[in-house]
Amino acid sequence: MTSVISRMESNYRLVEGEETILRPAFWGFSEDELRRRYRWSHDDVLQYWSGSIPGGRTFRHFLDTVAQRDWPDDGRRISYAILKRDGELVGMVSCYNIDRERRIGEIGIYLGEKDTWGHGLGTDALTTFAGHLFNDLSFNSVYLHTYQSNVRAQRSYVRVGFENAEVKRRYAPRVGYHDELRMDLTRERFTLVQSLEHRAVGPAR
Ligand SMILES: CC(C)(COP(=O)(O)OP(=O)(O)OC[C@H]1O[C@@H](n2cnc3c(N)ncnc32)[C@H](O)[C@@H]1OP(=O)(O)O)[C@@H](O)C(=O)NCCC(=O)NCCS
Repeated sequence: MTSVISRMESNYRLVEGEETILRPAFWGFSEDELRRRYRWSHDDVLQYWSGSIPGGRTFRHFLDTVAQRDWPDDGRRISYAILKRDGELVGMVSCYNIDRERRIGEIGIYLGEKDTWGHGLGTDALTTFAGHLFNDLSFNSVYLHTYQSNVRAQRSYVRVGFENAEVKRRYAPRVGYHDELRMDLTRERFTLVQSLEHRAVGPAR
């Protein structure tokens, strides 16, 4: 395995954002956290917007499969728990379809608790994750797909630095025909956007 994917990679660590903390999924989850994630997997609204949140026929089945879904041995996906600063688990963020040669991957993110939506946690978690991918794990670029109707997600992704790439008409059993937007983010673009953001909110001179 190359250094970008091995679990022994020392750069997989707790990553601190301003409002969130990211914890590598292979460090494991408490019983309460696992029950919370299982509950999220049965939330139709969340599943509708997110695509596919790992679940299972039973809690036992979920327990048996979730670790490999979060961080499979083939190294094609890495996942992190999104924690609030007080340690509460509020969501998950992943990079999957990882191409080790080109150092690119696809991003997926969700906040499981609906009352946390729209308060800046997602943008903070994704900014923190992108910084980790680019600065600690040597990724060159990342991309994601979202429904064109998911305006909240897109506004968050634009804040992080993602740019619209293309729209495709797709079909999925859960949502039927829909327009799917691909958004891209390179390391250079991320660095530029984040430096501008910090300048904009920095102390007045
Ligand atoms: C997508 C998601 C991760 C974003 O995280 P979040 O913490 O809710 O997002 P933020 O609060 O950081 O930013 C949301 C942006 O959308 C805006 N917004 C909030 N509610 C909105 C709504 N109902 N409609 C449109 N825009 C909305 C906010 O004002 C903010 O934009 P701004 O920073 O330009 O003001 C989170 O909402 C989520 O998990 N949603 C359900 C699952 C999902 O859609 N996952 C993404 C699949 S691609």
